[in-house]
Amino acid sequence: MSLPHSISQDLLINFIELITAQTGLAIRDQDRNTLSRKIWTRMNRLGLTSPQFYYRLLSIGAGQNNREWQEFVLLLTNIESYFFRDRGQFSLLRTQILPEIIERAAQTKTLRIWSAGCSTGEEPYSLAMLVWELLGDRPDWQVTIIGTDINEDALHRARCGRYTSWSFRTTDETFQQKYFTTTRNYYQINERLRSMVKFRYLNLFKDAFVALDPPLEQIDLILCRNVFIYFEPSAIAQTLDKFYYRLKECGYLMTGHAELYNQNVSQFQTKIFPESVIYQRPQPQFIPVREIPPSLPRSPLPRLEKPLAVTHSTPRPIDPTVALLAQAQYLFTLKKYSVALDKAQQVLRLQAENLEAHYLVAQIRANTGHYEQAVQSCHRVLSLDPFSVKAYTLLAQIAEEVGDREGTKNFLKKIIYLEPKSLFAYGELSYIYELEGHWQKARKMYKATLTLLEDLPLTQKVSDREPLTVGELKAKIQQKLNNFA
Ligand SMILES: C[S@@+](CC[C@H](N)C(=O)[O-])C[C@H]1O[C@@H](n2cnc3c(N)ncnc32)[C@H](O)[C@@H]1O
Repeated sequence: MSLPHSISQDLLINFIELITAQTGLAIRDQDRNTLSRKIWTRMNRLGLTSPQFYYRLLSIGAGQNNREWQEFVLLLTNIESYFFRDRGQFSLLRTQILPEIIERAAQTKTLRIWSAGCSTGEEPYSLAMLVWELLGDRPDWQVTIIGTDINEDALHRARCGRYTSWSFRTTDETFQQKYFTTTRNYYQINERLRSMVKFRYLNLFKDAFVALDPPLEQIDLILCRNVFIYFEPSAIAQTLDKFYYRLKECGYLMTGHAELYNQNVSQFQTKIFPESVIYQRPQPQFIPVREIPPSLPRSPLPRLEKPLAVTHSTPRPIDPTVALLAQAQYLFTLKKYSVALDKAQQVLRLQAENLEAHYLVAQIRANTGHYEQAVQSCHRVLSLDPFSVKAYTLLAQIAEEVGDREGTKNFLKKIIYLEPKSLFAYGELSYIYELEGHWQKARKMYKATLTLLEDLPLTQKVSDREPLTVGELKAKIQQKLNNFA
């Protein structure tokens, strides 16, 4: 079978294997069409018509020195990031991990921190702010913060240190005021902080982590968050090994939540805090305690049973996550958020990739005002299903809630791209354009909304969230259009 833009399945598999072999990134079956589109985007740019030729072009010395490979990688990576992403983890870093590391380094006065997969720099700069808050201006200390990434565009933006308000979506305003200067719509990180962070190209999967300046050795703290969610499990395992040897004894590794689920982390000492799990390279005398006795199955995933001979007395094996998730969803409708969250998280402990459970967590977090975590869960949903309209809808609602109008518009446009008949997205966009005084755009959107309403019964409610009927909404829009005229 041939996919859109006619790349044969066999060739597409070659592309996928090349990508995984070069980057560790996993391309799931449901992402094949998207990949095919990306390949064609590049081919069109280069004026190529043969995917086989493009494949050869990419595979010749794929890596940093192959310019086309660099361009292609830009399309493969998700570079979403923002300052102090995950309040819980940053609070843990500020109150416990960094003070402990600083205390341990009192003699040498040397700190080495690495943000691996740093994207546009928000993560290493957030670390720089925390270090600055804790240490102050101490020229007698040697503080090195390194940000590495495979995406050269992201690194360029990181080096510039210029951000829009979207990067501050969950940041305490005092940090913004203290460490940034405002220029029109941009926020420029101050020079002191900018010079604290060195950005370097590094492919976490392929590169050996040697010959980098500053060298990646004797690291006190590695943050590698929201990177492994895109990796093949075997690529995570390899990268973890490399991290282990780059850490100092007692040095820490922090990943995104549940990103090491099902990985063997026994060489590390696992420390569990309410805000996050963190992994420590132990001192030599430490003998890791096995949490799971070897006689029990090592995989926490429910095992697949051999199909049983069907007899009337043999009940079908029940997947415990189905019932748990149903309970969680029911509790959510009753607004019993804390128990619902507890159950959804139980589901995720059993099935880290349960999309519905991630989405429910996102809804609970959003409804309880934990927007940062809600956004993170939405992104988890999108990593599992990049076409999830409900995740984008929730992201749009959160962006609106936190006053991020540009973000709201972007998410609404994505929804329209994925669901061209989305009443919600058209309605919201019309309203925003009207608020902004973009009458032409607003009129166009309102007209499109009217067209969408055309086929619906007049007495039907527009949506669960809206008290209006289709007829009432049509009348309202018509009135607005008359006012514009
Ligand atoms: C979603 S961003 C995470 C940014 C930041 N750590 C955070 O949590 O906000 C993921 C980053 O991982 C990078 N990445 C993906 N594969 C990589 C690889 N093989 N080597 C290095 N970086 C990689 C991407 O380019 C992207 O910038």
